[in-house]
Amino acid sequence: MTAALEVRDLSVRYGGVVALDGVTLAVPAGELHGLIGPNGAGKTTFLDGVSGFARPSSGAVVVGGVDCTALPPHRIARLGLTRTFQTLELFDDLTVEENLAVVAAATPAAPTLHEETEEEIPLPSTAARVEDALSTVGLERCGGGRPTTLSNVDRRRVALARALVAEPTVLLLDEPAAGLDPGETAELAELLQRISAAGTAVLLVEHDMALVLGSCATVHVLDAGRLIASGSPEDVRIDPEVLRAYLGVT
Ligand SMILES: Nc1ncnc2c1ncn2[C@@H]1O[C@H](COP(=O)(O)OP(=O)(O)OP(=O)(O)O)[C@@H](O)[C@H]1O
Ligand SMILES: [Mg+2]
Repeated sequence: MTAALEVRDLSVRYGGVVALDGVTLAVPAGELHGLIGPNGAGKTTFLDGVSGFARPSSGAVVVGGVDCTALPPHRIARLGLTRTFQTLELFDDLTVEENLAVVAAATPAAPTLHEETEEEIPLPSTAARVEDALSTVGLERCGGGRPTTLSNVDRRRVALARALVAEPTVLLLDEPAAGLDPGETAELAELLQRISAAGTAVLLVEHDMALVLGSCATVHVLDAGRLIASGSPEDVRIDPEVLRAYLGVT
């Protein structure tokens, strides 16, 4: 069976800089994987190359068996892959609900048929989808305000809800725990477990090692644009290449 997300030999260049160098990894439906690496390792570039925000110089991105390589971000989102940003990139002059509605309107839900009657089930309205996504992240009552009025953790919840409202099969997260306290991080970990357990393939980019090693079944490690390890948290933690990349151990 093909994984929800398959990335093969992906490279991204910025001018003369090879920011990502032939990375291959897959995230199956229902799994939560981590992507770690030192500053500048290429983690954000990987998410950019996969989600259409950077044009790969070579390689392939396949979402649900469909080749998405070098498609624009909105087309990739409609094929089921959404992401959050390290710098959140919320629309600060829109309300929280409007931030989500823009994405919901651009990613129409697929019609489904009733199991017994085979009649088409009416699609939920944009407003219902927005409400549902806000409730998933615990932000039921903040929809009418602007993101600028919210705390860091709530702004991060809006960013996550905006990715979720597209009902993704693949969700990429760029440092969602930045600035969160331990309690907020534990809540995020629980939420990500729930999202992946419901069937979404989740790839978590994080510097918070406790979060990644404690929540992810599989961890991928980038260093200088290359994938240097992939495996269980236990294996990655003691991998000599990983120790060298993080600690400068030779
Ligand atoms: N738009 C760009 N133009 C030129 N170089 C870039 C661009 N974006 C990233 N780079 C370079 O690509 C490399 C990888 O950067 P990237 O932001 O992907 O790292 P990262 O692993 O996400 O780091 P961090 O942990 O600090 O977020 C770095 O050398 C960076 O300077
Ligand atoms: Mg980054």
